[in-house]
Amino acid sequence: MPKALVAYATRSGDTKEIANLIAEGIRFTGGEAKVANVAEIKKEDDLKGYDAYVFGSATYHGDMIQGMKTMLFLAEKAALENKTGGAFGAFGWSGEAIDRIYGTMKNIFHMNMVKEPLRLKSASLGGGIQMAQEYGKSIGKNMTA
Ligand SMILES: Cc1cc2nc3c(=O)[nH]c(=O)nc-3n(C[C@H](O)[C@H](O)[C@H](O)COP(=O)(O)O)c2cc1C
Repeated sequence: MPKALVAYATRSGDTKEIANLIAEGIRFTGGEAKVANVAEIKKEDDLKGYDAYVFGSATYHGDMIQGMKTMLFLAEKAALENKTGGAFGAFGWSGEAIDRIYGTMKNIFHMNMVKEPLRLKSASLGGGIQMAQEYGKSIGKNMTA
């Protein structure tokens, strides 16, 4: 069964909520999904063994949360080329973190990004729940073990 890692960095929980909804969407398609706080990912091996990677961070002061930066440096060594990828995050008005994560996955890791990044002001606003689940479904449909 194909397996995805959904890793998030959050301060107040919005991005974690989105991560869980994306994982639900992946599971709808029959795939496995592990949801992890970036703080749990401590070594390169923690990133091995997945067919898809979905990374998300909230934006604070125009930037991603430090734990996501640290994890992206680990991911750089994990040979994710051509793996299925996605990026997401909660934001207030500018959401720089989301586009930077997406850009790193696409341009540095050379991953197969299935969709544009998922930018949500909140999972519970403006159809956010459904959008996050649909995003997960797209990831699930594109990953192959
Ligand atoms: C001190 C502070 C700074 C913030 N800076 C930004 C920012 O630069 N750009 C932005 O889009 N949102 C900004 N936000 C809004 C958060 O990204 C938003 O509340 C988000 O939902 C938080 O996600 P989280 O619960 O996953 O931490 C800021 C919020 C706070 C409290």
